[in-house]
Amino acid sequence: MSSASSTVPAVNQDLTDWDFCQDPYPEMARWRRLGPVVYNEFADHYMVTGYRNCSRTLAAVRKFSSQDMEELFVRAFGGVTMEALDSPRHHDMRGIWSEFFQRDSLETQRELVTEIVAAQVDRFVERLRSGETLDAIPNMTRAIPTLVIARMLGIDESMHRRFSEWSEAMGGTQEGSYDPTPEGRAVLRKGAEATAALNAYIADVVIARRKAARGEDLVSMMVFHDYAAEMTEREIIASNSQLVFAGNETTAKLMATTLVALAQYPDQRRALAADRSLIPAAIEEIHRWQTLVQVLPRRACSDESDVDGVRVPRGAEVKVLIGAGNRDPERWERPDEFDIHREPRQHLGFGFGMHVCLGLNLARLELRIWLNQILDKMPDFELADAIVYGRGLGLRGPKSVPLAL
Ligand code: HEM
Repeated sequence: MSSASSTVPAVNQDLTDWDFCQDPYPEMARWRRLGPVVYNEFADHYMVTGYRNCSRTLAAVRKFSSQDMEELFVRAFGGVTMEALDSPRHHDMRGIWSEFFQRDSLETQRELVTEIVAAQVDRFVERLRSGETLDAIPNMTRAIPTLVIARMLGIDESMHRRFSEWSEAMGGTQEGSYDPTPEGRAVLRKGAEATAALNAYIADVVIARRKAARGEDLVSMMVFHDYAAEMTEREIIASNSQLVFAGNETTAKLMATTLVALAQYPDQRRALAADRSLIPAAIEEIHRWQTLVQVLPRRACSDESDVDGVRVPRGAEVKVLIGAGNRDPERWERPDEFDIHREPRQHLGFGFGMHVCLGLNLARLELRIWLNQILDKMPDFELADAIVYGRGLGLRGPKSVPLAL
């Protein structure tokens, strides 16, 4: 156990506490005022809270490493993925897919995304119009990124239902890991079984088939890349499985968060419906204001590891609180207010530095197409119940979004 450096203020907070997770912002604002980094006695880790220090910590890869977190990824996906690597391997592995995920390259996917979004939104709106009250997550948002990535990975259409089930079970583990009851353990078991099934499918069917006949998909792109020779089979499988996990629950929950924000602020929803050029900035503002991935884990890996001059002991676990960084009053005026008209400034919702989200352009493309269709097809909607957030800050989003027209 590392002990707190004497210059670091100490706090005591269970980051998975239910009440705290409903609205962590007032407490995180208090920590930010204490100093650039605070020590959390409850879990023996250091927490970075301001915008500038969060981004600097994420950029300082020689002082704060992701590589030491690799056991997390091996446990989750059965192998190391780019997220758990430092340079030069990180650079090489990310390079395999980075061009595909560039904004311009993704234009070739616009039609596919539009078609998938339309099918889900139309079905959802039709049911709402018939008088039903529906939870938007299982009935609309979750299927969109799942089907998009399934098509990009070249998953056979007959497997899409199974693929969605696996993806959903994998997404559920976030909640299950904070639930000590038998139900929580069952959710975790289901998630682990889903990862194993997805890994087996990718290994036995997809990779083997692609090796026999190259396709125009992400799996082929990796399997036939020169760098694949430097990767183990487990790394290739884990990387493809991770793509499913990394992109699905996040994008689905950002859509859910968008519905909540626009239901709570009908004036801003009407302004968006009237002027669609505001959509890109509005989505960034929602993501800043209600950040999905609140915490990024790192480990201090040098005797020189410091946050704004405050030393963090080598080996200590560090939580970079990007959700707190996104409400830093030094960067945004009235940071706790939701305002789609504010001057756009880069936020930390997709991370920062070399591990910045590989799929951010895809997530933005999906969100923009989807929100345009929502504003066309159901410009007026309201929440049918209060919104509750799940436990944990790894992925903080509404548990459900019950909607009615
Ligand atoms: C709203 C949706 C999304 C959010 C909020 C999100 C958030 C993030 C964040 C915060 C990171 C940084 C992790 C770190 O620094 O440790 C990250 C990395 C990553 N994301 Fe996303 N993500 C989203 C969508 C996607 C999509 C659609 C994909 C791909 C289909 C994707 C693939 C990845 C990958 C592969 C990484 C690791 C990048 C690296 O280590 O170089 N994400 N994401």
